[in-house]
Amino acid sequence: MNKLSTIRYLRQCYTGLPFRMQVFILVRYLVCPWHLLIEQLDGMKNILDVGCGHGLFLCLAQQRFPALRCCGFDHDEKKIRLARQARPHADINFSSDPDGLISWQEKFDCISFIDVLYSIPPAQWIEILQQFRRYLKPGGTLIVKETVNHPPWKFRLCMAQEKMALQILRYTKGDAPTLPSPGVYTSALKAAGFIVLNRQRLDKGYPWPHYLVVGKSMTD
Ligand SMILES: C[S@@+](CC[C@H](N)C(=O)[O-])C[C@H]1O[C@@H](n2cnc3c(N)ncnc32)[C@H](O)[C@@H]1O
Repeated sequence: MNKLSTIRYLRQCYTGLPFRMQVFILVRYLVCPWHLLIEQLDGMKNILDVGCGHGLFLCLAQQRFPALRCCGFDHDEKKIRLARQARPHADINFSSDPDGLISWQEKFDCISFIDVLYSIPPAQWIEILQQFRRYLKPGGTLIVKETVNHPPWKFRLCMAQEKMALQILRYTKGDAPTLPSPGVYTSALKAAGFIVLNRQRLDKGYPWPHYLVVGKSMTD
């Protein structure tokens, strides 16, 4: 799928949402190397996307792999409501209730965290990763995509943007995130019971320091 047809597909998916949300989702689509993340899902039967927001990754994943069973979890009820509104006809199960995860009663081939951990204090990462590891099949895959502190010029650009969103546009609330080094993520994965299979820069062609870490759940 080229970018233009994917944009058309996303417009169909999100047509019921307010216009500014549609614009936000379109911009989000353009700034992240989704195709490289979706490649990781080849051969998988199901996925749980943690911190799924409006469900963009899952919509794109289902476009590429129509048979993939998709579940999305986000603690922001408003985003989950919009995600559900977006594709009422699609087979994506969204929940904002952690107990809802238990009722799915299935274990996943893959769990993803896409630009989620950076918004959570690092001291909580291991606990959160362990908590969601329970929903993975033995040997299942964990995908973590974040923006990191390297290369320096992309890091500085990213921080300047965050500062503008927080202090000037007041688009986001809270403290400016710290963007740790890739090593901080790999250490957290290992401490939470994952073997790190792959770590790679995903920033080629983007002015943001996108980075991917893929882990495999160790069998207990
Ligand atoms: C920057 S957004 C990324 C959304 C989506 N993954 C994407 O890439 O478009 C971070 C998301 O993580 C969610 N989030 C943060 N902490 C969470 C937690 N502990 N449990 C579930 N969702 C969380 C937020 O509500 C938000 O929707």
